[in-house]
Amino acid sequence: MSSLSTKHLLGIKDLSAEDIQLIFSTADNFKEVLNRQIKKVPSLRDITIANLFFENSTRTRLSFELAEKRLSADIVNFSASSSSVSKGETLIDTVNNILAMKVDIVVMRHPHAGAANFLARHVNARIVNAGDGAHEHPTQALLDAYSIREKEGSLKGKKVVIVGDILHSRVALSNIFCLQKMGAEVMVCGPTTLMPKYISSLGVKVSHNLREALNWCDVANMLRIQMERQDIRYFPSLREYIQLFGLNMDMLNSLKKPVTIMHPGPINRGVEITSEVADSVQSIILNQVENGVAIRMAVLYLLASRVD
Ligand code: CP
Repeated sequence: MSSLSTKHLLGIKDLSAEDIQLIFSTADNFKEVLNRQIKKVPSLRDITIANLFFENSTRTRLSFELAEKRLSADIVNFSASSSSVSKGETLIDTVNNILAMKVDIVVMRHPHAGAANFLARHVNARIVNAGDGAHEHPTQALLDAYSIREKEGSLKGKKVVIVGDILHSRVALSNIFCLQKMGAEVMVCGPTTLMPKYISSLGVKVSHNLREALNWCDVANMLRIQMERQDIRYFPSLREYIQLFGLNMDMLNSLKKPVTIMHPGPINRGVEITSEVADSVQSIILNQVENGVAIRMAVLYLLASRVD
């Protein structure tokens, strides 16, 4: 297989295991390029990409931009806070104006679930979802799964626990779809109030006990509490959350076997994990960031080279 089955990357739900495998093997090639002295290839020399960020981002925005530059694409950047969106312009009008400038691929982050799917139905360009509300964050899940594969050798049969605010997390949902498609077992762990009611129907194990979850898994992906998406209080106090679901070195060192620690960022040090855990030898957090560039190069390259 040398071509993706989808025209856009809107969510992991739309990808097959073969698509994910193709993205990984393409990323392997680009990772080799990124370790060369000259890190740039001409693969997307005639392609123009618009990065539309309607919501804050550090890692994803920089990682896409770097991936695009490494592939020699022409790029335009847009952030909602400094645009005419603040003057009342609609999403479709904003994007159609950008497309009139002959853009081939749109990478978009948006606070509303479904925004990327909406765009894909209305504009004539490849769309890459860089995170839409609490729905999906496909490139994050791809780089997470790729990093586990790199560390553990394979995803098949690996046990991965996702800890924290599952209810508001697009990272959790995309990770669940991606890991299951690649043969891993998934558990989610957190307070009952931060678990979606439908969670068991996704075929994941559910735990409300951090020690039990960590003793079950090979890999723990620690999520932050998404305060910006919470309209009510979901737990009595941050102190209580840290006591029950925060990971510190005492807990990590007392587990039955070593556990690989991941975090999609941004980290709230001292909340979901302590600084010592984030910076420990068991943490692959910076490997995730490094792999993000190769994964995004692979996604952009495969979408641009796909013949309809
Ligand atoms: N992991 C992630 O999406 O981080 P940013 O919000 O900084 O892009």
